Parts: sequence; C-alpha cells; structure tokens
Amino acid sequence: MSRTALHLGAAFYPEHWPEERWPEDIHLMREAGLTVVRMGEFAWSSLEPSSGEFHFEWLERAISLLADTGILTVLGTPTAAPPAWLTQAYPEIFAVDEYGRRAQHGNRCHYCVNSPAFHAAAVRIVSAMAQRFGANPNVIGWQLDNEYNRVCYCDRCRRLFQEYLACKYGALDELNRRWTTAYWSQTYSSWEQIPIPVGQHNPGLMLEFKRFVTESYRKFQRLQLDALRPHLRPDVWVTHNFMGWYNGYDHYVMSEELDLASWDWYVGSGHNDYLKSGAAHELVRGFKRRKFWLMETQPGCVNWSPVNNALNRGEARAMAWHAVAHGADAVLYWQWRPALNGQEQYHGSLVDQSGQPRPFYEEVRRLGEEFAGLAGLLEGSVLAPARVAILNCYESRWSIEWQPHHRDFDYVAHLLHYYRPIAARNVPVEIVSADAPLKDYRLVIAPALLIMTETRVAELKNFVARGGRLILTLRCGMKDEYNALLPSRQPGPLAELAGVEVEEYYALAEEVPVKGNWFSGVSRLWAERLKKRENSYTTPIARYGPSNGWLDEQLAITVNAWRTGLVYYVGAYLDDAAQQAFIDRVLLVAGIRPILEAPPGVEVRKLVKAEGGEEIFVVINHTTTEQGINLPWPAREHLSGFTIKGDVRLAPYGVIVLTRTGDT
Ligand code: GLA
Ligand code: ZN
Repeated sequence: MSRTALHLGAAFYPEHWPEERWPEDIHLMREAGLTVVRMGEFAWSSLEPSSGEFHFEWLERAISLLADTGILTVLGTPTAAPPAWLTQAYPEIFAVDEYGRRAQHGNRCHYCVNSPAFHAAAVRIVSAMAQRFGANPNVIGWQLDNEYNRVCYCDRCRRLFQEYLACKYGALDELNRRWTTAYWSQTYSSWEQIPIPVGQHNPGLMLEFKRFVTESYRKFQRLQLDALRPHLRPDVWVTHNFMGWYNGYDHYVMSEELDLASWDWYVGSGHNDYLKSGAAHELVRGFKRRKFWLMETQPGCVNWSPVNNALNRGEARAMAWHAVAHGADAVLYWQWRPALNGQEQYHGSLVDQSGQPRPFYEEVRRLGEEFAGLAGLLEGSVLAPARVAILNCYESRWSIEWQPHHRDFDYVAHLLHYYRPIAARNVPVEIVSADAPLKDYRLVIAPALLIMTETRVAELKNFVARGGRLILTLRCGMKDEYNALLPSRQPGPLAELAGVEVEEYYALAEEVPVKGNWFSGVSRLWAERLKKRENSYTTPIARYGPSNGWLDEQLAITVNAWRTGLVYYVGAYLDDAAQQAFIDRVLLVAGIRPILEAPPGVEVRKLVKAEGGEEIFVVINHTTTEQGINLPWPAREHLSGFTIKGDVRLAPYGVIVLTRTGDT
C-alpha cells in the first residue's frame, strides 16, 4: 500500500505482553480491519536492556506476525523514554525544571534535549534500529520520539542559549539595543550574564529563548534523521506526532525536515467540537501544506482529563471521517490494549485488560470495513484547493500569551473566531504559516499578526496589489522580530494598505456596542480606535457605540481599496452573531461560495483525485439529531452503494461519501 492509501490502526505495545498472546491480538486487529500499527516509541528498555546490548528479535517477530495478516508497521524511535541504566550512568541526561529540580526516572520525556550523553545514546539506538529495520518491507514509516514537550533549564542549556545569542547578535551592543536593556538596568556586559527567563522577563529575551528551544529540538530531530535516512527505502517516510495547538516551539521549523506531519487528537472531557478540531486538522495540514497522519486518537475515553467521559456511540466514527475529510491518510487509535500496570491503566482502548473487545471495538470494525471499501476511491486524493487562508504565527502567539493585556485574550481562540464562521459555511480554508506564499488565495486573514517582518509586509502587499482581499485584525503589526514595539502606530508598515492607523487600543472590562453597516453587536475583550489616514479610500464598516467616552462613535472596522485589492481592518472583537454576519459579507464580496449549503452542524468537505480531478464529497452530521441536505445533482453514495439525489437524510453522526453522477 502506498503512502496515500487510507489506513486504520492502533498503537500496539507487544513488549507489555507474553508473546503467546500476540497471535490472538493480531487476529482481533485483522477482524477489526486494522491495516497499520505503531510500535516501539517507548520500548527503549526492551530494545536495549543494557548499554549496547540490542534485543531486536522480538520486534522483528511482531512486525512479521502482523505482516502475515496484512498489517503494516510504523516504528517509533524510543527516545521519549530513556532507560534507567542510561540515566543512572549519566544523571546529566535528566532535564532540570525552572526551579532547578532534576527530573526523576519513571515518567517520560525526562531528558535534556541538549545533553551530549543523551544524543550519543539516542543516535546509537536509532542507528541500530535503522540498520535492522530500515529495509524491512513491512515498515512503511517512522515516528521520531513522541510529542516533544520538555523544556530544560540546566546550566548546559543556559550556556548553549548564551552561545546561540552570541552567534545570532555578534555583539552585545546589538543585543542590548534590540532588547532595550537600559530598561531596569538589564544591560549585559558579558554573554554569561544572560539568564534563561523564568516567569515574566524581557520580551526580547523571552522570544529568543523560545527560538532556542525550537532550535534545540530541531537539532535533536536532525541527529535522528541523519541516523535513520541512509538506511531507509526511498518510499519510507519520517514523521513526528505533534500535539495540535501545543505552543512549545515553532512547528513550522520542526516540520521542515520531516517528510510528513502527524498529530495526536484527543477530545478529553465532553464531545467533539468539529469546528475546533477542523481547525487543528488544518493547522497540521498546514505544517507541510499537504495531507497528514492522525497518529493517535481517542478510542472512547482518555484517562487524563477532569471527567474522562466516553465519546457517544457513533461519534468517533464521525470523527474519523472528519479527519479523513480534512486530509488524514490514516487514523490510529491510542491504544490497542491497556497495560496491566503503568500510568495509563484507565485509558480507553480497543480491547480491554482481559484481552476481549470493548464495546467500542465494534465501531472500529465498522470503520475498518468502510475504509477498506473506500481506500481505492480516496487513494491519491488531495483536498480541494482553498481560496481562504488564515495566517498563524507562533512568535506573535507567544508574545501575546506573555502579555495578553486582558486575562481572557487568547491568540488561538481569536484565530478560531475567524476560522469558525468560515468553516461553519462549508467554505474550504487553510491555516498556514504567516511566512507562507499567498499567491493561491483570494482571501487572507491575519488574526493578531503582532510581529511584522519585511518579508511578511512585502508578501502581503504583493497579495493585495494582485487583487487579494486581506483582513487585518486587532493587535496586527505592533512589533518587530525582536518582540520590540515598532516605533509607529499599528498596523505599522501595513498602515498604508489598511488606510487606517490605530490611535489607541483598549482592553475591555465591559462589552462595547458596535453598529455596523449590515450588522450590529458588541465588541468583547478588546477594542481599537481607528483613524482614517489622509488620502486613503477607506470606508467605515462599523463604529463603536457609547461606552468609555474614548471609543464613542469612533471607527471600529474599515475597508480600504488599495491597488486592485481590498484591505479590511477589524479593531473590534465581535460577538459570534455579528462576526458571522461580517464574515458572510466578506465572503460574498470576494465571490467565495460554500462547497454545498448545509444546516448547522453538518459539514461538507471536498477532496479531489489528483489524476482526472474527480471530486469526492464527504458529508458529516456532527449533531445527535437527524439532519437533511438538498443535493443539487445526482450522486453515488459510496458507503451504501446507492445513487441518491435531492433531499437526503443524515442520521445522527451520519456520514455519506459522494461522487457526482450527473449535472442536474
Ligand atoms: C499522548 C501520548 C500517548 C498516550 C496518550 C494518552 O498522546 O503520545 O503515548 O499517552 O497521550 O491520551
Ligand atoms: Zn538542559
């Protein structure tokens, strides 16, 4: 099966079980229709029980037993779980937290990402695994480590951070100037004086430390890639399982050298909010701007959230199709069976502690049949190109998270405030790096794009000059890449495009009325008072109503015609209904249409076959009540095999997958 086939799978830990049991597990996997398992990502102590003593036979036997029934393997490098013999020999491997406490053995990711002893041991095990399994025809891909997340504050990390700064800034004068260190006598006269920030600190220092953490993980990942790649068959890919919106490092940098992005999707408490999870899928698809793997997802319940409720019957199936409709080439449940001991005894799984299928297994079995039936149809498909892009910037996000100015101002929530009303209309949208090329889009939204660089400004100008529609929102264009305030009013170098500048920004203790040309509502959390620039073609879209005096009757939202494009500036944080009305109008003016009209809670996504361009529509009812859509053309429904047209009913959590059979 190729990389673009549709896979269903689970995380499998054969090292937790006597080998006599494996055939029964594998039989049950096959019965459920699994086509892939991920193994090995925490198995270091079983793969190398003492220094240099490799025990790979068991894993080889597991891979081959699985392959006998047609199940392929993704191998994890086991570096998220350095074994006790290693940390005992080299205690310096243990990460140190911000209070100076060393990590203990027995949890995971307890390593300092910059430890040379750890690097050496990691390269050794990864090289040995690569030599043993790199050419194995049943190993189709590799996952490096597992959910990178630890930040280390040890003396070595601090020294390396100082070296990183010395290399980047060249001279302390430059650093002192960029960080305005004369403030509070922070001025540094030697590199050794510079700390790792703990808690609130100089914004310039804080941003550089985040970049340093990213760089540390990138180098660590690179070591593993270099150890692996020479031994892999050309079609074998390498990935890392990211955690959606996790903010620990710049995911665009981390994804660059990987072949494939993948992620771990958990709902935790409550139920799937498909507009929120849809955005997370777009985020991960945007890491490499291509389809991805869902490397882990929730089978029923988790064990780590305040209330570990189960997903409703049918909900996980709808979620699996939702992932596929957003570009997942594989859906893997975590995990196959809970280990009898260890920290995750109560986590959901496909079979239970007794080895028997849980009720949830039935749902996976159904998916197994469906995936098998539709793998051919979906093979080689890509997402229908989106004309709308939302820009995401980790650096702007960090900066705002450190200084939100309003307790409830959340960068991701604000971004989702733009994603939701677009996705709710079933308009395809992508979430991409703020440094991505924009030429393929019609509408670009830059939510709170705080940090402006010359290249960003140039790309945005180009985009609008060519006729693009741009939405700049509050907090845009306030800072430079050193996290210093720009010596100009917002949106800084984009003010000419916007045709307005921000005279003042206000964190709001109370909602402020907003009266628009075609909607009225309120602004919450934040309001910016806009001023039209001279000689601009700016038109008001909304003004503030009476509130704190400063905002009364002032401009809240504007649109400016610049060259052949349009630039909206949104200084208000509108309520949901007003935001939907605003976005609907922007889409209408831009000529951007939904894939299909559908009632609230019913999602429609479109994939396209690369060859031939055949369109595949996935329609999902994310609600718990029956819904209907009206199909404008006759279609073949691939899960049932029927031909349908006109009024189509969708059961609660119902899914249909369509291709058109005619025009009317
Ligand atoms: C993460 C990890 C898995 C497992 C799950 C449990 O995603 O990668 O090893 O701990 O959480 O939800
Ligand atoms: Zn360290």
